[in-house]
Amino acid sequence: MNLLESVDRCKLPKHIAIIMDGNGRWAKEQGQDRVYGHYEGVISVREIVNACAEIGIQYLTLYAFSTENWKRPKEEVDALMELLVNTIRKEIEELKKNNVKLHIIGDFKSLPAICQQELNEACEMTKTNTGLNLILALSYSSRQEIVEAARNIAIKIQQGELKPEDINFQIFENNLYTSAFPDPELMIRTSGEYRISNYLLYQMAYTELYFTDVHWPAFRKDNLYEALLNYQQRERRFGKTSEQIQKNLNQHV
Ligand code: FPP
Repeated sequence: MNLLESVDRCKLPKHIAIIMDGNGRWAKEQGQDRVYGHYEGVISVREIVNACAEIGIQYLTLYAFSTENWKRPKEEVDALMELLVNTIRKEIEELKKNNVKLHIIGDFKSLPAICQQELNEACEMTKTNTGLNLILALSYSSRQEIVEAARNIAIKIQQGELKPEDINFQIFENNLYTSAFPDPELMIRTSGEYRISNYLLYQMAYTELYFTDVHWPAFRKDNLYEALLNYQQRERRFGKTSEQIQKNLNQHV
């Protein structure tokens, strides 16, 4: 049985979040410069988006550029922004064909105008699609997102729309960039680093974390299926005991 056949379609996560790490190291291993790794990383993006759409994942969030990434050498930042624009342009027909709906989270206004325009158009062109929701985290910082949510709530209180005692998880979540999406059940980070790097800190309170040594440009469908199989072997307890979880499962059989 191949890996895909081993994946239990009834136990899929609704939402997978990925930190696509290792483009630079992979390129270096090939004797190339870092930007080559980002170009090859796009091939993995295409492959994993298609795999998620095919298998029936509903939400896929990709960490494509963090606010901290602005500190990289200007040539690399410019190359990444250009790659983003070109990729969106090139892939839009494929996204439409595959019923993928594109969303952006992050500090959208800090992106170059041409990126904003291209992304706005792509979101508009895919907005009626009903398949995979592809969420690109761009110029994204989870701490920034949380601070902004707190600020928005404070403004609503100041304007008399909300009372402090009304603040609960739901109100807080409604003010995050991700208000329209469920929390990820599975987070994959490639390239052997064991960090979450300012990514979906609030949303990942109960997310299962999966780390692999494979660099992002080498990450293929089978690597995704391996992550899914690993996820499916885990017992998600949310603070309860194993006995409680098993009892609940038996009652639903
Ligand atoms: C991390 O690898 C990767 C990034 C900062 C950029 C990710 C971008 C892509 C995969 C291509 C564009 C994406 C889309 C959605 C079109 P790194 O450069 O930090 O690698 P290193 O840790 O080995 O240096």
